[in-house]
Amino acid sequence: MLVLTLLLFCVFYVHAADSGAWIDYPADGTATMTHYTIPDGDIAACGCVGDSTKYPTAALSQMAFGSSTAFGPSCGKCFNLTLLNTYTSDPPFFPNVVKSIVIKVTDLCPLSENGWCSGTQTKKNPGNQYLNFDLAYPSRAIPDDFFPSNESYYGYTDFGVWNVSYQTVSCIPNWAGANNKAALGSVTNLGNESVCCPANPTGNLNDTCPSYSDDNRLPYVFA
Ligand SMILES: *[C@@H]1O[C@H](CO)[C@@H](O)[C@H](O)[C@H]1NC(C)=O
Ligand SMILES: *[C@@H]1O[C@H](CO)[C@@H](O)[C@H](O)[C@H]1NC(C)=O
Ligand SMILES: *[C@@H]1O[C@H](CO)[C@@H](O)[C@H](O)[C@H]1NC(C)=O
Ligand SMILES: *[C@@H]1O[C@H](CO)[C@@H](O)[C@H](O)[C@H]1NC(C)=O
Ligand SMILES: *[C@@H]1O[C@H](CO)[C@@H](O)[C@H](O)[C@H]1NC(C)=O
Repeated sequence: MLVLTLLLFCVFYVHAADSGAWIDYPADGTATMTHYTIPDGDIAACGCVGDSTKYPTAALSQMAFGSSTAFGPSCGKCFNLTLLNTYTSDPPFFPNVVKSIVIKVTDLCPLSENGWCSGTQTKKNPGNQYLNFDLAYPSRAIPDDFFPSNESYYGYTDFGVWNVSYQTVSCIPNWAGANNKAALGSVTNLGNESVCCPANPTGNLNDTCPSYSDDNRLPYVFA
């Protein structure tokens, strides 16, 4: 038992030390989008202030988020997500309207074996994408009719998973919470664990979250 424990520790330790395993994703691309529930005012993995939940936010899949627990280098980044089509439905649904939303990443979507957040550098998720954005929805920040549907044909309105395109955008002025300092969050102190939600990450090291895992040599979590 002790031997097994030590062996597991070593395997995870190697993983944790290998920060090169995080996905270095392009600024613009395609991804999958799912949705999840986050309580109003909740402080999620990025440690952003609770007011961020008043505006559109999302969790990003772990290997793109860049940490196995707590904050990662994607924290605070803003993306314009545009719905393209569904494909877990039969047949796939192509909306006749263009719907997009600018979200701020405030949370981590844990890596799993085969789930929507299972993308790694070398393995795509079941939607053939490396990245998944898990949108906080329903949300007071997003209209209830945000997702296009065709209920008379499909018999339901929530497709669950969408194929989306994403563009990296500046949070200021594009994010709906851009004028609310209490929602933006900020980080000026690299390695400070108490506040880690850059208001407007620019790609410079001084306003990008460090990876909590890399700093603390924590293992990846393979659920
Ligand atoms: C987001 O994408 C949509 C669809 O391409 C576009 O109309 C909109 O201007 C974009 N928003 C921003 C802030 O880039
Ligand atoms: C719903 O789907 C049916 C069958 O494909 C199509 O004829 C109809 O135009 C669709 N309606 C909407 C609102 O997309
Ligand atoms: C997602 O959209 C892209 C761009 O239109 C397309 O190339 C890709 O096949 C789509 N993927 C799925 C699973 O529908
Ligand atoms: C982080 O910064 C805050 C405010 O400057 C400070 O009170 C706190 O002690 C710092 N925490 C760490 C772990 O450095
Ligand atoms: C980070 O560095 C850039 C370039 O040196 C500077 O313009 C910016 O003000 C700095 N940001 C913070 C939050 O210190």
